[in-house]
Amino acid sequence: MFDTHSHYDSTKFDEDRDEVVAGLTAPNEFDPQGVKYALTCGDSMESSRRAIALSERFAHVFAAGGVHPHEADGFCAEDLAVLEQWYVQKKIVAIGEIGLDYHYDFSPRDVQKRVFAAQLDLAKRLGAPVIIHDREAHADVYEAILKSGVTRGVMHSYSGRREMARDYVELGFYISFSGSVTFKNAQGIVEAAKSVPEDRLLIETDAPYLAPVPYRGRRNDSHLMYATAEFLAFARGVSVESIINSTRENAKRLFSVE
Ligand code: NI
Repeated sequence: MFDTHSHYDSTKFDEDRDEVVAGLTAPNEFDPQGVKYALTCGDSMESSRRAIALSERFAHVFAAGGVHPHEADGFCAEDLAVLEQWYVQKKIVAIGEIGLDYHYDFSPRDVQKRVFAAQLDLAKRLGAPVIIHDREAHADVYEAILKSGVTRGVMHSYSGRREMARDYVELGFYISFSGSVTFKNAQGIVEAAKSVPEDRLLIETDAPYLAPVPYRGRRNDSHLMYATAEFLAFARGVSVESIINSTRENAKRLFSVE
C-alpha cells in the first residue's frame, strides 16, 4: 500500500512514533499487506522540517513540505526560498499540504489566498506536484489552481461532488480518498469515489485523523488504510488487490517515487 497523506510528526505520535513508523512495512492484524510507502505532510514550516527528518530516517517514508491555510498567517517571503531549497535537496516529493479552509477560517481569507497562490506558483516553477486541502472553499481553490497553471497534484481527503472530481481529473489531478469515505452519510463521497478513473485514484489515511470504519475514533495509522481499500474495492466492484496495486502505482507516478 502507498499511504499518500499522513502526519507522523503529529504530537499524537510522541509516545511511540519510531515504533509505529518502523512497524508500517510489516503486515499486522489490521493489514495483511504491510505499507510500502508513506507520505508524511507538513502543515507549517516547523512541521515540514520534522517531516523531512522522518523521511531521512526511514526508507519507506517520503515528505511533503508546505504551509496549510490554518498556518498561513505566519508565512513570510523567506519561507518560499526555504521550501524551494528543501524540494531540490531533501526527500520532499510534493508541495503540501496547501489550500484554503473556509470552515475554520483560522487565518484571514485574503492571507490564505495569498499564501496558497505563492506556493502554487513555486510548485509550477519547480514542476512539483501539489497536495491540496479544500474545505468549503471549492470555487476559490479551483480558480487559484487554474490561474497558477499547475496541472499535477492531488485533491486530498476528497469530500466534494463527482462533477468537481471530474473537473480536476480533466485538469490532470488525482483524487485521494481517506477513511471519511467509509463514514455514515458519506454517500456523496462514495459516488465521487466510484466515478474517478482507476488511473487517477489514490488512498490515504490523514493519520492520526479520520480512521476508517470500523476503527472510527481511534488514532489512525497507515495499516488501518487496508479497511479503506476494502471499502473502495467493494464500492467499485473490484478486488482489494487491484485497488491497492493501482493506487500504489498511481502515487509512484504522481510523486516520481521509484
Ligand atoms: Ni492532512
